[in-house]
Amino acid sequence: MKSMPTATHRYPNGWFPVACGDEVTPGRIFTGRLAGEDVVVYRTRRGRLRAVHPYCPHLGAHLGHGGRVDGETIVCPFHGFSFGPAGNCVRTPYGQPPPRASLTHVPVIEANGLVFAWHHESGAAPTWEPVTLPSEGFTKPTTFQITSAGHPHDLVENLIDVGHFGPVHNTKINLVSTVPEGPFVKVVVDLSGVEELGFFKERGLHRLGSLKEVRGQAEFTCSGVGIVSSLVSVPELGVQLAQVAALTPEDPGRMRLRLTTSTRIESRMGAALAPALSLLVRFITKRQVKQDYEIWANRRPVERPKIATGDGPIMLIRRWAQQFYESADAEAGNTPERAGTRRAAAATITSTGSNGRARHDAPAARNER
Ligand code: FES
Ligand SMILES: [Fe+2]
Repeated sequence: MKSMPTATHRYPNGWFPVACGDEVTPGRIFTGRLAGEDVVVYRTRRGRLRAVHPYCPHLGAHLGHGGRVDGETIVCPFHGFSFGPAGNCVRTPYGQPPPRASLTHVPVIEANGLVFAWHHESGAAPTWEPVTLPSEGFTKPTTFQITSAGHPHDLVENLIDVGHFGPVHNTKINLVSTVPEGPFVKVVVDLSGVEELGFFKERGLHRLGSLKEVRGQAEFTCSGVGIVSSLVSVPELGVQLAQVAALTPEDPGRMRLRLTTSTRIESRMGAALAPALSLLVRFITKRQVKQDYEIWANRRPVERPKIATGDGPIMLIRRWAQQFYESADAEAGNTPERAGTRRAAAATITSTGSNGRARHDAPAARNER
């Protein structure tokens, strides 16, 4: 089996956030960063979202430094050339026909309060789209972001690394299943297995921190290594919580995590209570993220970890994640698409509880979590 790439200068392919939606209001230009490059994101006055490589094809000015949006065009700060929504130069201040020149677009998708840009080391076009969460009836997403040292696959690995929830978050979780499928992984957590939430426990509010009597579950979907979307449903309470955590490799070893949270409460007071619940959940999650970051910022990725009985399905996730690393597939002569299909076919369903017992339903992953 090939090992997980750990060199932090290798960027994975996929969708990664380059901005929060509210950072790119109509008429505004925002410079995000992805895989060692700036990405200029802007929204036209009519609300069309565009992302482009930053340098003007005329004489190379950076559009994110002094550029402006004029109606449906973006105007370069250096000689004032205007570029339309399709990227082509539509006007110059010279009163002459514009040159045949065009900005280079970056594919973008806006969903759940985030702007995702596509990155592919070979420049290939997107072959899949990230999963989006329902927004109907949910509060407007609240956002939070933080940067730190780290590795691109820290986020997805963190989700299924059941062994760290006790020591790092003072919490226990019950991971029900982990199912890779193409560029996605679906992870289900049984909420009644959440015996203690560290945030409440540390404040002496043990009862609030226990979800033992709550019937509900949390469904997580990883869309590539950059995005984890979660939908938590507690039907008895009429509560739903939608959260997207997304990690962007900005530069070698430097990650930016963006998190959006929105809630929906089906009750007479729901509309009034949901924003407060969103803020509470964001506060608790922010605290957890900082706990993770303390570890991520100071750890060294271990290429061949010594996995123990009781660990989560770490090796399953690492095998799945290989499809996003260009050179790993190039070595084996596979296209990312072929590799994704082949690995999905070999994927297994794994059940792992915080009690350390693990069950593997397919022999492909036996002894490798
Ligand atoms: S460099 Fe952009 S218009 Fe000249
Ligand atoms: Fe964590």
